[in-house]
Amino acid sequence: MADTLSSLLPALPSAFVWGASTSAYQIEGAVTEDGRGPSIWDTRCRQAGGIGDGSNADIAADHYHRWREDIGLMRELGIGAYRFSVAWPRLLPRGRGKVNPAGVAFYDRLIDGLLEAGIEPWLCLYHWDLPQALDDLGGWTNRECVGWYEDYAVLVARRYGDRVKHFATFNEFSVFTLFGYAIPWAAPGVSDRAAHLRAIHHVNLAHGAGVDILRSHVKEASIGGIHNRQAVRPASDSQADQDAAALLDAHWNGVFCDPQCLGAYPDLVAETIEPFVKPGDLARICRPLDWLGLNHYGPIFARADATTPWGYGWADTPPAPIDPAIGWAIFPEAFTEELLTLHHRYHLPIYVTENGCGGGAGSDQPDADGQVADSHRIAYLRTYLAALNNALTQGADVRGYFVWSLLDAFEWGSGYGPRFGLIHVDFASGTRTLKHSGQWYRSLIQNS
Ligand code: FCB
Repeated sequence: MADTLSSLLPALPSAFVWGASTSAYQIEGAVTEDGRGPSIWDTRCRQAGGIGDGSNADIAADHYHRWREDIGLMRELGIGAYRFSVAWPRLLPRGRGKVNPAGVAFYDRLIDGLLEAGIEPWLCLYHWDLPQALDDLGGWTNRECVGWYEDYAVLVARRYGDRVKHFATFNEFSVFTLFGYAIPWAAPGVSDRAAHLRAIHHVNLAHGAGVDILRSHVKEASIGGIHNRQAVRPASDSQADQDAAALLDAHWNGVFCDPQCLGAYPDLVAETIEPFVKPGDLARICRPLDWLGLNHYGPIFARADATTPWGYGWADTPPAPIDPAIGWAIFPEAFTEELLTLHHRYHLPIYVTENGCGGGAGSDQPDADGQVADSHRIAYLRTYLAALNNALTQGADVRGYFVWSLLDAFEWGSGYGPRFGLIHVDFASGTRTLKHSGQWYRSLIQNS
């Protein structure tokens, strides 16, 4: 029997946003077209070993040229909202100074197209693609980056704020700072404690400034920050693993939400970050928000690892129901828990801005009839939506859910192995095919 909202999510509030998410760098391609400048991820893709499969995002899902077709597919899916990011280096090729009109015009077309299709644009200002020219000046480790972000935010707010009302300042603060500046799995690939702490604090300052800018320039703006939050569990009972997990938890889950919403850094971090904090900074970071975005995939298992800058490392997932088609263990109860933690700690409406699954290499391919029968993704989404329902039942104020992702896309670090889309993309030809999960999502939400 087909799933319905009332069978799967009986606790759903009557107004609920159903959407899908993407990010500029992962789908647009056209990295040298129409005056776009290079980002730190273009650089990363050109470094030996930078991306697992040696690929790059020069073409990716070719959304820069196929945006109109993609809006048509969103319409077919029946989503009410689309979360995307603006590429800073498309608007300001050198990160600051001269504006690139062709880049600005691209998002004008996209936003107008979405509104014509009756889809609410949710614009994220920063999904990791820092202009390379700014990284050459120290990027997020340089306090001046706050001012560069402010100028960029003013441009975005002035240009699009007449039509866009939902804004996120950043995507996954903790992920790009931790992996960009401490454990070098992401651009710009620095591995240094002080660089990590500086980046954390400067990104927090930029967030606070961004909130104020959006608030003052955009009438009826609804503003949030998007956090990747996962429970961090020690791999064993040893004191060393427990300490490692506690510090990783502070860096992953605490150092952004706490100062942004409660005005203080977590105790475990307060002392180390103090040298970078100036008087008045915390008041600048803690600005009133309308919502929190939660990106959730699964818990992290931590172990002590003396070879990393902070002494923590990733442990293997302990025996758990690993889904063979996804290659991950599924912990839906951790999702329920995280929604409740967020709700009780920060008292803000929550939008799930990413949740979804990749599928192992070779999965998600069209069969002889051209169908992409991704039943593992339907099972995953069903399980996680049931977990969301549990959180609603226990009082969490969850107002929307965005699947990651609308399209198969370039994946940070790994390239084109995992496919997260509701829509299959043949990367050689650009051809799109609605997967079975997309058909399932459509039928689920059509009567909401
Ligand atoms: C998140 C990122 C997103 C995507 C998913 C799979 O951490 O925000 O861009 O890569 O993971």
